[in-house]
Amino acid sequence: MGRNWEQELIAKAEQRTALIGVVGMGYVGLPLAAEMAEAGFQVLGYDVSRRVVDNVNKGISHVLDVPSERLARFVSAGRITATNDETRLGEPDLVAIAVPTPLSKTRDPDISYVLSATEAVARHLRPGQAMVLESTTYPGTTRELMLPALEKSGLKVGSDFFLAFSPERVDPGNRRFQTRNTPKVIGGITPACTRVIMALYAPAIETMVPVSSPEAAELTKLLENTFRAVNIGLVNEMAIVCDKLGVDVWEVIDAAATKPFGFMKFTPGPGVGGHCIPLDPHYLAWKMRALNYRTRFIEVAGEVNSQMPEFWVDKVVHALNEQGKAVRGAGILVLGIAYKKDIDDIRESPAIDVVRLLQGLGGQVSYHDPFIAEFKEDGIVLSSVPLDPATVRKADCVVIVTDHSAVDYAMVGREARSLVDTRHAVADRAKRR
Ligand SMILES: NC(=O)c1ccc[n+]([C@@H]2O[C@H](COP(=O)([O-])OP(=O)(O)OC[C@H]3O[C@@H](n4cnc5c(N)ncnc54)[C@H](O)[C@@H]3O)[C@@H](O)[C@H]2O)c1
Repeated sequence: MGRNWEQELIAKAEQRTALIGVVGMGYVGLPLAAEMAEAGFQVLGYDVSRRVVDNVNKGISHVLDVPSERLARFVSAGRITATNDETRLGEPDLVAIAVPTPLSKTRDPDISYVLSATEAVARHLRPGQAMVLESTTYPGTTRELMLPALEKSGLKVGSDFFLAFSPERVDPGNRRFQTRNTPKVIGGITPACTRVIMALYAPAIETMVPVSSPEAAELTKLLENTFRAVNIGLVNEMAIVCDKLGVDVWEVIDAAATKPFGFMKFTPGPGVGGHCIPLDPHYLAWKMRALNYRTRFIEVAGEVNSQMPEFWVDKVVHALNEQGKAVRGAGILVLGIAYKKDIDDIRESPAIDVVRLLQGLGGQVSYHDPFIAEFKEDGIVLSSVPLDPATVRKADCVVIVTDHSAVDYAMVGREARSLVDTRHAVADRAKRR
């Protein structure tokens, strides 16, 4: 009789003697490592970036949701260690993979990071290890891509090793819901895989949601993010509709939101950004194209959302026109360039398009963002300017793209010569006072 790895791993989870490996120590991996350490586990982080590994080992966090003081506490207690030595991947009992899943230039899934992480794990696979993919991806990745790579070892899934998909749902900057109190969906290749991996996460995550397969778990994540992309697209289209009808879209949304059932409030804005909403639905669209099905909602939402920077830039053109000015040579101050409020991430931020379009028209663009001191994208290099009444007064037009909480919107509303507010930040703050 071989060893009962399922029982051994569940016991190790209960006694907190399991070693937790986290592959990819970014926005997802580092908060997970911190929660696992908080739960009493020893954590070994593996990352291909030397800079990330060195910083983690020095207790310096590059992720806002994990303050350096917290990380340093775990590092000095020996609870979290980082490495780029691939041979150590054979040590952990659980290996959670949280590497990037971007899109290629042609907007197809770029699964190369998941592939190379899987191959690295497979090269050191030993009996009694559990693997979880956390990266957002198309349905089928865990079973069709990871499983064969791991089974090349001759080990059997469900008894020698365990494999599941469990989507990360982290919402950077969200103070209320973080890794620990966001329910975690887990879909194992076999029921034993689900049981083992649930036991290993249970000490760190409050609520576990088992589903019957990795495909169900993969699709859960894609449904969540497609739901957001589509609803943001719908409400952005409503902003365009209201603009054409001369109706205030925010008044309509606030009124609709008084309905106590059957309506969920989404707000319009400059478009969508970040690593998830603009990208993830394309993973599903790509998979479905291979099955000869066109996911129309995803396409339409993507189209509407990506047109929003142009819609708002057109508003700037009109605002300047009201003052008898052209965009060429006008001073335009962009407030907020992160893709959403109170975070320091500009990946896929619609602000990049807004700045590019305004510069293309000859506008003299400057920006203020309390989280981003320097902005280098598409050949544009700008530094954040301090925000004071004089800076606001000097601009021919102020465009609020991201509504960071720290900005004094009353002052901006008072001092701006003309204002384009893609987030309704000035009026909303005034209403709340
Ligand atoms: N950022 C979010 O808000 C968020 C939320 C939910 C899900 N996700 C998903 O989680 C995944 C990770 O996203 P992220 O934002 O944490 O990315 P990230 O870029 O912040 O971090 C990824 C890390 O993985 C490392 N890495 C790359 N290839 C590697 C390899 N082969 N082996 C080891 N390390 C490797 C990188 O150096 C980097 O440190 C993506 O699939 C993303 O879609 C992200």
